[in-house]
Amino acid sequence: MEVINLSEAAHPDHAIKWVDSEMLLLDQRVMPHVERFVRCTDAQQTAEAITAMVVRGAPAIGITAAYGVVLSVMHRLAEGKSNWRDAVITDLETLAASRPTAVNLFWAIDRMRKLIDEDSETLVDRLLIEARQIHQEDLIANRLMGELGSACITEPTSVITHCNAGGLATGGHGTAVGVIRTAFQRGKIEHVYADETRPWLQGSRLTAWELVHSGIPVSVIADSAASARMREGGIGWVIVGSDRIAANGDVANKIGTYQLAVAARHHGVKFMVVAPTSTLDLNVSCGEEIPIETREQSEILQCGGANIGAKGAKAWNPVFDVTPAELVDVIVTERGVIRNPAEKGIRAILR
Ligand code: MRU
Repeated sequence: MEVINLSEAAHPDHAIKWVDSEMLLLDQRVMPHVERFVRCTDAQQTAEAITAMVVRGAPAIGITAAYGVVLSVMHRLAEGKSNWRDAVITDLETLAASRPTAVNLFWAIDRMRKLIDEDSETLVDRLLIEARQIHQEDLIANRLMGELGSACITEPTSVITHCNAGGLATGGHGTAVGVIRTAFQRGKIEHVYADETRPWLQGSRLTAWELVHSGIPVSVIADSAASARMREGGIGWVIVGSDRIAANGDVANKIGTYQLAVAARHHGVKFMVVAPTSTLDLNVSCGEEIPIETREQSEILQCGGANIGAKGAKAWNPVFDVTPAELVDVIVTERGVIRNPAEKGIRAILR
């Protein structure tokens, strides 16, 4: 992966750029202290960038994969081989293997794959239009969800969010952070508590950066401080994104979301999940069927490259968990709001 330095200030809504037939990804591994892009010119590099967490967040992974399909076809056509379509299909498999949990990845690849059989003369243009459409649709969905989620918040309150479900994780504006942005503009958000989100620190590095950038008051808390903060009072909602929502309304999201939902229910705090319909997966009936990514033990045993775990200790590092639907008060999608998803699941919103 080639790293290039920015000549412009990083912006949360510009994490994925298509410039001169290349994709530039804001390097979220080093944000916010270093602002630089990673250049992708083929599907292999795109898949590596997704796996390495250069780009992360379910909708952003889907958008990146869509541009990755464009890069694949450009690259394979340029090789001039007659069996270029076979090579493209292999590339799509490489992209699909980059991360397992966020269904937006597979959704975007499937949507792009439907175009692969079209006339090769115009195929690259057609694919680029589709990838840009996926990107733009996500931004529009986030703005709609911002309004719908904000409408669920009836009085000014403070909120807790987990991981980063902001502009960096999406086509722009954000899902959970999008609701927070819109609700803040409506005078409904007093303060945001951002869980730091061990081990990748998406909360302290990315969400806090986005909120500061938007002038929204934010305090970073250790993940383990969330229950204590709820007991102090003044927290009306926990607002999070999702990587995949099963047909029964069970929600996969960043590890730690489940314990947040348990604590929220105990303290009478409402729990909102904000996700576009591209995150809904009717092919899995319940959360147990959602593949949960497990990553390297070193992500837990090291911090900033330094060993912090006791020598000889192992680590267990599932990077997502499943929150049962009964702990979710509302799921906000761009097509509408599902209240008490445990009662009816998500099917109706997709009709
Ligand atoms: O491992 P990550 O950083 O890709 O995990 C991201 C999350 O869990 C987000 O909450 C989720 O993808 C929703 S992003 C709008």
